[in-house]
Amino acid sequence: MKINNVVIIGAGTMGQGIAQWFAQQNIVVEMVDQNFEFAQKSLERIRESLVKLESLGKLTSAQVTEMKKNLSVKKLEHVNTKADLVVEAIIENLDVKKNLFKDLDLLMSKETILATNTSSFPVTQIASSLSADRKKNFLGLHFFNPATIMKLVEVINGMETDKNVSAFLIKWFNDKKKIACECSDSPGFIVNRVARNFYGEALRAVECYTEDKCREVDTVMKEVGGFKMGPFELMDLIGIDINFSVTESVYNSFFHEARFKPHRLQRDMVAANRLGKKTGKGFYHYES
Ligand code: NAI
Repeated sequence: MKINNVVIIGAGTMGQGIAQWFAQQNIVVEMVDQNFEFAQKSLERIRESLVKLESLGKLTSAQVTEMKKNLSVKKLEHVNTKADLVVEAIIENLDVKKNLFKDLDLLMSKETILATNTSSFPVTQIASSLSADRKKNFLGLHFFNPATIMKLVEVINGMETDKNVSAFLIKWFNDKKKIACECSDSPGFIVNRVARNFYGEALRAVECYTEDKCREVDTVMKEVGGFKMGPFELMDLIGIDINFSVTESVYNSFFHEARFKPHRLQRDMVAANRLGKKTGKGFYHYES
């Protein structure tokens, strides 16, 4: 097993970061999004970020040239079907993810490892759309935002995943200075399961939205609790739509256990298109 060529599907917050991280490991990266122009913009943002790292002295000009050469945007039907790894980072919707993997099963070489960056769906459920002999090469690789900086990668085996595949990837990531750890295939895995109450209790503490109330909770959690970011800042960074989908999915997967219940404020923020940093407005306001 080797990782020299990677396809990233979904060029949003996570796809862009994951693509950049792989490019910085000198891997050939093809980016795909259902919105081709959006993927091209993501590629442009990665290039700008690499140039910034060069200006800060963190990368050399030769490294940046090489990384830029290794990055491209493709339509799904034109990707390298012999790529070593595909990482899916599309919308957090079980049916949409299952349909994509059904297509990838037909498109990609049987040797290709297929991975999902889902935050909440059990990997075994996503794998149900794959053919029986593909399931051994399918697993969860859960990166954290921003993927270029956050070291943790949760590695999740589905029921049929070949343990040699996950063991190989854990070592591969750790060699590249990520911290990869194996997690049980339970809803939300470790971090997103534990974090549900971080967001949920903060939302219940605020109850009705005002920016001042959110700031109060964030300040206390940072100044007294020692967290790097408060729950509202973090929801804005993650994307309130994504965070809401994850909450709903964990809640449903645990058969409606009250401790995982979503809050109506999450639903209302999504309805108002206040999705956080990516739309310039969430619990806080951002300069565009
Ligand atoms: P996003 O909304 O920023 O980006 C999703 C992208 O997927 C969009 O550009 C959309 O056009 C594209 N897309 C949707 N359906 C597609 C399809 N069928 N084929 C190709 N492209 C498609 O979402 P984000 O935040 O990047 O999340 C992506 C995944 O990563 C989700 O599963 C999410 O749960 C997970 N995740 C998100 C984190 C976060 O902090 N936002 C952290 C870790 C995981």
